[in-house]
Amino acid sequence: MQQYEIAVLPGDGIGNEVMPEALRVLDVIGAKHGVRFDRRHFDWSCETYRTTGRMMPEDGLDRLRDHHSILLGAVGYPGVPDHISLWGLLIPIRRVFDQYVNLRPVRLLPGVTAPVRDKQPGDIDFWVVRENTEGEYSKLGGRQNEGTDRETVLQTASFTRFGTDRIMRYAFDLARRLGTPHVTSATKSNGIYYSMPFWDERFAEIAQEYPEVRVDQDHIDILCARFVMTPERFDVVVASNLFGDILSDLGPGVTGTIGVAPSGNINPEGRYPSTFEPVHGSAPDIAGKGIANPIGQIWSVGMMLDHLGLTEAGADVMAAIEQVLGDPAAPRTPDLGGTATTEDLGKAIAEAING
Ligand code: NAI
Ligand code: MG
Repeated sequence: MQQYEIAVLPGDGIGNEVMPEALRVLDVIGAKHGVRFDRRHFDWSCETYRTTGRMMPEDGLDRLRDHHSILLGAVGYPGVPDHISLWGLLIPIRRVFDQYVNLRPVRLLPGVTAPVRDKQPGDIDFWVVRENTEGEYSKLGGRQNEGTDRETVLQTASFTRFGTDRIMRYAFDLARRLGTPHVTSATKSNGIYYSMPFWDERFAEIAQEYPEVRVDQDHIDILCARFVMTPERFDVVVASNLFGDILSDLGPGVTGTIGVAPSGNINPEGRYPSTFEPVHGSAPDIAGKGIANPIGQIWSVGMMLDHLGLTEAGADVMAAIEQVLGDPAAPRTPDLGGTATTEDLGKAIAEAING
């Protein structure tokens, strides 16, 4: 029997409510496909920060290192500043485990009303590939003459050839794997003088390795407009850390509720575990009520299964989500316009997998 070790970090707020539903689905999938998932739970969160002064123990990363994947809920809660919770747990995991790809599907699902008019499932179906380790998010820079009218702040972006080439190759490989041979590059080489012309050069160079893949590039401003006006034109979109951050929230925003969107923080070479987590946070406004939509967490399990090479299992999860969302009689949480609980919706999806 195939066996995988999964580190489970529910984190804060609704992370603790949606994770059990994701694990329910994982159990059903394991039984159906004859795969064993050994789960190790870690309660690292803002709660542990308040009692121990740390988001995770000093040897936290070492304890995670030997798992095949990390399944994460949401981290951050009122009472602990967000930069403490983020830099104390999520960022170290992403950087130390070299999870240089942030991957997010943008897909209009059946039964979900999109804020854009006249779009059907199938019209909006693409992937945002965001560089996750360098670029605009750097600590290079400085601040001087503070508090005077000469105050000067410098924030420097850094793009390495190594980091740029590998994110682009990932995007092209993804397009090839998905059978949608088309990659769009997010740029701004008309305004940003050094980094974005370099980005364009590397894109053109790497594209030559994939002659069958159609390419185009859009400046980030018009690209944002096109996400809303003509989302059907996209298949795989590759972007720097900052542009990708913006696009990967804009995309799911265009398709409806944030409660269904998943993401992967991926180390493609598998040298370290990758992390799968919903796009949403801990939702303090609804935490404790048992009404959070568990689909973002469940779809994250689907992405994890794909990453582990269990593609049939991953497809089963996706089909179950689509089946339940497309069934007007199935339970729906309040964000989808219904009155069901997190557990009702999780159970319905788990049952759909068994057919
Ligand atoms: P949020 O995503 O937690 O909530 C935004 C809005 O969406 C809220 O109205 C919430 O009720 C709703 N929402 C989110 N997930 C939902 C779900 N599954 N079902 C139904 N409704 C849902 O973002 P917010 O409020 O900005 O952040 C709250 C905390 O979460 C902060 O501490 C923040 O730092 C953290 N956070 C953590 C993330 C992570 O772990 N990767 C990502 C985003 C925020
Ligand atoms: Mg973001």
